[in-house]
Amino acid sequence: MASTSPQSPDQFEDYIKDLLEKNYDYEVIKPPKGMFGYDIEIINNGKPIAVQVKKYRTPVNRAHIQKFMGFMGLHHAESQFSEGWLISSSGFSKPAIEHLRNESRENPRASVVSLGTIYQSDIRWDYLDPKSSFHTHQDSSREISLPVSSLEDYQNNIHRRYYFGIFTNKGGTGKTTVAAHLAGAFTLMGYDVILVDIDPQKNLKKLFQEDQENKDDLGAAASLYVQPLRPGQIGSVISVLDNKEWEDDKDNHNDIKIVICDCNPTFEENSNDLVKEFDYCVIPTTLNPLGIAKNSDVIKRTFEKIRTENSRAQMHVLINHYVEHKSKEKKNNLLLDLLKEQIDFNEDNKSYLIDPSICAIHRSDSLYYWGMHIVEKKKPQLGFELSGGKCVPREDFLKLAEYFRGKF
Ligand SMILES: Nc1ncnc2c1ncn2[C@@H]1O[C@H](COP(=O)(O)OP(=O)(O)OP(=O)(O)O)[C@@H](O)[C@H]1O
Ligand SMILES: [Mg+2]
Repeated sequence: MASTSPQSPDQFEDYIKDLLEKNYDYEVIKPPKGMFGYDIEIINNGKPIAVQVKKYRTPVNRAHIQKFMGFMGLHHAESQFSEGWLISSSGFSKPAIEHLRNESRENPRASVVSLGTIYQSDIRWDYLDPKSSFHTHQDSSREISLPVSSLEDYQNNIHRRYYFGIFTNKGGTGKTTVAAHLAGAFTLMGYDVILVDIDPQKNLKKLFQEDQENKDDLGAAASLYVQPLRPGQIGSVISVLDNKEWEDDKDNHNDIKIVICDCNPTFEENSNDLVKEFDYCVIPTTLNPLGIAKNSDVIKRTFEKIRTENSRAQMHVLINHYVEHKSKEKKNNLLLDLLKEQIDFNEDNKSYLIDPSICAIHRSDSLYYWGMHIVEKKKPQLGFELSGGKCVPREDFLKLAEYFRGKF
């Protein structure tokens, strides 16, 4: 049997398409380009099945399952498809499989979804829904030959990817908080985001770990599914990878437009290759006398260091822990003037202070207590919960994401 290992995500999709058509005799329909939610449609005894394919090196995580379930639950998907299959090149995380098993057991309205991995040129089911039509499928010939599509198709199809590096040399100004919630804001806007955890503390991996019981295993899957802003839309996914996982797998995440890196506080420890990729560097700081005294030199040095590695990157100083109140207006203006005096933003023509009237991250309890889910052994979440229909951090980070999207 001819067997080739598909290299690109598009080749993998074609490989699956062939497998389903030739090995299982399904009628296979490839949806028009740009169709979201699924990659292939197959027909089994007149019943249409939506198939989503993932060719990652790491197992597919829980957030991806939630996103696919979210898609299958949309009104138009529900009326078009009888069931959905998610096919992976390298399995699924344990919490991902458990999530689906629990959903189909406990939620009578849950869509029929099955999970399969390509193994020895066949589908090995990691979870096959009891109601799946696959059970009734008559197996035919096992002999298949698999084509290889041209890499060119894939390369032509690659879209622009935007890299963000969140920096500071000194701890505690909110680097990790900003990285995570900026990612959250982009997912609210409909982008899937990769968070690259370069900080050796591995805080992001801990904060997004799917299985909080399994605390010590930092190689474990870390992800979050973010619900869509409006009904009828599809949600988005944050996946946390370390630098090596991202380097090894970045060509396979061809659907990812936004990559946000929580950088190492010691500048030299950040991989040069990654720093060269950055389009936008964000440097959070605090607008108070001690913060300015402590941080402005650090920021200037960070600017210089980034610039020696990357001539293209825009560098944006963001005010975090912002206190906005009429009574504080005068103080804030004095402090802003001091900050501008200490950091000459004209020295580098791509360095900017984001004016708090455009966007700043307010000091808030939601961000202060972010991470309680670890203490309470609950599932990962962001500090975006609404109270009385409002959430300040959510509005702040949406503004920040809009600010950058305006520059894309
Ligand atoms: N806007 C905010 N309002 C309230 N608390 C905040 C805010 N931003 C950050 N915090 C809190 O400040 C602390 C430090 O934040 P964070 O860990 O994100 O900083 P960091 O720069 O990543 O630090 P490190 O250098 O140690 O990695 C955290 O306890 C966080 O919850
Ligand atoms: Mg941190």
